[in-house]
Amino acid sequence: MADEVKKRVFSGVQPTGKVTLGNYLGAIRNWTPLQQQYDCLFCVVDLHSLTVEQVPAELRKNTFELTALYIACGLDPARSTLFIQSHVHEHAELAWILDTVTYVGELGRMTQFKDKSRKHADNINMGLMNYPVLMASDILLYQAELVPVGKDQVQHVELTRDIAQRFNARYSDTFAVPQCLLSKAGASIKSLQDPTAKMSKSDPNENAVITLTDDADAVRRKLRRAVTDSDTSANCVRHSADKPGVSNLLNIYSLCSGVSVEQAERTFEGKGYGVFKDAVADAVISVLQPIQAEQKRLLADKAYIESVLRQGAEQASHIAQKTLAKVYRKVGLVPKIR
Ligand code: TYM
Repeated sequence: MADEVKKRVFSGVQPTGKVTLGNYLGAIRNWTPLQQQYDCLFCVVDLHSLTVEQVPAELRKNTFELTALYIACGLDPARSTLFIQSHVHEHAELAWILDTVTYVGELGRMTQFKDKSRKHADNINMGLMNYPVLMASDILLYQAELVPVGKDQVQHVELTRDIAQRFNARYSDTFAVPQCLLSKAGASIKSLQDPTAKMSKSDPNENAVITLTDDADAVRRKLRRAVTDSDTSANCVRHSADKPGVSNLLNIYSLCSGVSVEQAERTFEGKGYGVFKDAVADAVISVLQPIQAEQKRLLADKAYIESVLRQGAEQASHIAQKTLAKVYRKVGLVPKIR
């Protein structure tokens, strides 16, 4: 009974390329503690990945690897529903209905659409534009009230709220109106090469991004090359708006070591960037290594991953069917004759 009153949480990551430290610190890591308090669904959003061209075999492989990563990061299939988006067909069906209450102008204004259109100028497909509607469908299908994401997804969650409110106003109360949950320091982890831009999976410069599969040498090499500044003063390791590279490294250090930014500034006083960067590397490596070992162990047991996904899809479908039936009824579609 207690489960029925728990607020619902929904979030997801695309199985596109390699998961980054930004995905981990901005999203996945913040999901684990929520499992104790909320009814959580965590999804591998494979349909979203199709908005940019994928190699089919790699997409399948990434989907399994991301599921194993979720579990390795502490998502517990006994507590949370872990599933693949395309296993629950209601996501795509609800997206169609939500399309009819979403304006082309709204979608054209989305920052991510504009960015991706620039990056993939030869493939500005309708899916890229519709992406936020499918995301709204993911969230609204489960009546989720809380959506833990990084800063770059806030605009999409705000659009989801607008769509939910518009639908509710037109067809009577149907959807819970969700809210973003943002972590303070991890909400936007920046590129190591351009600390004014976010760390992104699709960055062609591999030195800009730490991935969750990077080994210790790669992490250390990338952090040593991270862009800082030419400050040589005793307190050069300082969190400040005019030091975006150093501030980003301090955030990463703090999140991975558990030491506060202020404490870290004191620890590294009088020490140069070389010592600091090595300490950041040690902290990141100590977070990544146990996750990597656990992911490897899980991937060796495909039957287990499949059983998690089977159960997850069943649990998710149960909720999704109810919402979609309600929506179809509200908009005036005739129920299937049995
Ligand atoms: P995706 O796969 O791009 O990113 C997954 C999560 O990681 C966060 N993130 C970051 N956080 C901090 N710093 C960064 N540099 C960084 N890069 C990425 C993202 O904000 C996200 O939370 N559209 C979503 C996936 C999605 C979804 C949903 C999320 C589909 N349906 C429903 C929530 C609810 C996305 O592109 O994620």
